[in-house]
Amino acid sequence: MNDFHLRSARYLAEQLCLHVLRPGDSAVDATMGNGHDTLRLCRLVGDEGKVYAFDLQIAALDSTRERLRLNGMEDRAQLYHMGHEHMLDVVPPPVRLVLFNLGWLPGGDKGVTTRTETTINALQEALSLLQTGGMVSVCAYPGHEEGVREQSAVLHFAQSLPSSQFTVLWHQFINGGAGAPACLMIEKIGCQGK
Ligand SMILES: C[S@@+](CC[C@H](N)C(=O)[O-])C[C@H]1O[C@@H](n2cnc3c(N)ncnc32)[C@H](O)[C@@H]1O
Repeated sequence: MNDFHLRSARYLAEQLCLHVLRPGDSAVDATMGNGHDTLRLCRLVGDEGKVYAFDLQIAALDSTRERLRLNGMEDRAQLYHMGHEHMLDVVPPPVRLVLFNLGWLPGGDKGVTTRTETTINALQEALSLLQTGGMVSVCAYPGHEEGVREQSAVLHFAQSLPSSQFTVLWHQFINGGAGAPACLMIEKIGCQGK
């Protein structure tokens, strides 16, 4: 039995977290939702680490707070009821990992979904917070109208990043139909010559 599978975009992002985060790191969950990712990040950064998590919906904060409480991890996370496009105002650099899981809150209001313009602003902020060797991961879902626009803008943004400073990888489940999820990974490699 393999211990690695091409299961889903989220699974790829989870594997990245496992490989990149170390005890004592700072990490950002840019789309807190029900807090599954926030909890995972809290476990990986350990007692000395910190996780900063964002969502526009109070229901997401309530659900995440409860999940962290049940797992004894409340002290490791700082939850913000604000858009991820304002992360630079509150997150102290440097951070090792920033996670985006785009779309809407599972089981919640599908009208409150991530939006192209704010997602791109947040991505720019995330890159500026990263330490060298740090990573950004974005799971994108082009199965709805705003998701298509958002994925296309995210791809365009990522393709334009200077290769001297960032390594960029785009995974897409290409036999999964038009709305198949994708996973973008960006590594900050620092300036390398000219
Ligand atoms: C797919 S869900 C995230 C799932 C989550 N990572 C989990 O583990 O349960 C996307 C979330 O992004 C939130 N969201 C939408 N726009 C946002 C914004 N500008 N800033 C932060 N969160 C936002 C939505 O409210 C929703 O809860």
